[in-house]
Amino acid sequence: MKVAVDTREASEATADLLAVLLPQQDPGTWRLPNRVRRLDRALGDPISAALGSGDFRAREGQQLLIYPVAQGAVRRVLLLGLGPEPEVAAESLRCAAGRVVRLAASKRAASVAVVVPTLRRLRAPLISQSLAEGVVLGGYRFDAYQEPKSDSPKPVRSVTLLFERLADRRAARAAATRGTILAESQNVARRLSNEPANSLPPAVLAREAQKVAREVGLRSRVFDVAELRRRKMGALLAVGQGSIHGPRLIVLEHNASGRAATARTQKSGTQKRARPTVCLVGKGITFDSGGISIKPAQGMQEMKHDMSGAAAVIGALRGAAQLRIPLHLVGVIAAAENMPSGTAYRPGDVVRSMSGKTIEIVNTDAEGRVVLADALHYASQEFAPQAMVDLATLTGACMVALGPWATGVFGNNERLVDRIRRAGEITGERAWPMPLLPQHREEMRSQIADLKNAGGRAGGASTAAGFLWSFVGDTPWVHLDIAGTGWTDKPRPYQPRGATGVGVRLLLELLLGWRGGRAV
Ligand code: BES
Ligand code: MN
Ligand code: ZN
Repeated sequence: MKVAVDTREASEATADLLAVLLPQQDPGTWRLPNRVRRLDRALGDPISAALGSGDFRAREGQQLLIYPVAQGAVRRVLLLGLGPEPEVAAESLRCAAGRVVRLAASKRAASVAVVVPTLRRLRAPLISQSLAEGVVLGGYRFDAYQEPKSDSPKPVRSVTLLFERLADRRAARAAATRGTILAESQNVARRLSNEPANSLPPAVLAREAQKVAREVGLRSRVFDVAELRRRKMGALLAVGQGSIHGPRLIVLEHNASGRAATARTQKSGTQKRARPTVCLVGKGITFDSGGISIKPAQGMQEMKHDMSGAAAVIGALRGAAQLRIPLHLVGVIAAAENMPSGTAYRPGDVVRSMSGKTIEIVNTDAEGRVVLADALHYASQEFAPQAMVDLATLTGACMVALGPWATGVFGNNERLVDRIRRAGEITGERAWPMPLLPQHREEMRSQIADLKNAGGRAGGASTAAGFLWSFVGDTPWVHLDIAGTGWTDKPRPYQPRGATGVGVRLLLELLLGWRGGRAV
């Protein structure tokens, strides 16, 4: 989708649908912005007629679709309420934009113009970015497996944001581009997570990651089973051994060669510091049946999205490349299919992870932490990052604790936890700190191995994080449990049913604000 920024008169806009975003006002004392009044007049006063009826008050999310009798350049005018102006924030603009684009798609309107309100508290670039995010995210649909029908929604092709005036047009345009990149990267993650498990086994997930890498210029490497054996990644191999689709470790790297280049300039005398390295690690279980500790049938189909952490990592790396974030960024994905079979790993097995630590498998359904053990160890050893963030649909317990409303945040570094929480507030992806105590780590000690992969029901999200903690060494690290936020059955204004792509914009917000050099 193309998002343009313009300052043309609303009455001169040409579009299949013209949306007018309006903050709420007291009924009876409506004062339309001058340019909306001019638009209204050009169309034969349909807007003031609608307002006069009292039917539309611009409450948040309120919509009124008008078909002007005077045939101008627009056939449909959508009035969309933003709620009281003091409460209008980036998130309300994302929602408004999502609503506009979904309504437009349902009317099969290919081009949309949006009359953007002038808001006292929000600067034009923030408005521009938020609206771009909202239209691109709201325009997403997963329809790869459905025959299009004549009345099915048609994707909106272009959106023009009409500002009243712009002090810095370039900044507003750049912000719209940034918002588009962020949202498209999130849509890449959604698409991968929505993809059924039969079309996305680990090797195909790896191919998809490499395709993204080629498109945006990331370095990529994929370790197959033979390579995983050579590298002694026994934990990832164990989880993957029950499936005919073997496991993979996927590595994506942004600014890999730039890093080598800075190392060379250092040798030649210039004092340019090497770019700091940040690692993103994703759980990539392409299907989680539970394995021998098999899950109940109810809801099992949702476990095709148990690679949502991996999808977020791929989306974030894509966005980082497109936004040219000046960091050496590495994505590490542990991909496997967790299946029961004659070759599957069993409860009671003891597996040796790459770190050398042995793990007693108590429950084969606690597979995410097992594959992450190798991915986290590999990432911290191979790249010695300044910080490491993992994302995983890890525990039902986190879903019980926070519901679909917040991602669980666990970590060994308070400042990194805090930065992530703040990034989430900015992007509308709420991330809530959860306890991670030494006791949670101790709880995962085994009688017969170094660790066991499952504790009791008590504190299940924290003990899972405690298990991961044993594999990060001294690296400042945060674990994001997205079990509750990675998938939704209830559509929201810019979020259709299914995979959410949560984490992509949050990570990119974090990385865009990264101050290199200083340890977290
Ligand atoms: N992938 C699941 C967690 C999950 C559940 C994600 C629901 C999204 C929605 C994970 O692998 C799992 O099965 N965890 C177990 C761990 C338990 C066996 C210790 C759980 O939470 O029940
Ligand atoms: Mn599981
Ligand atoms: Zn799982």
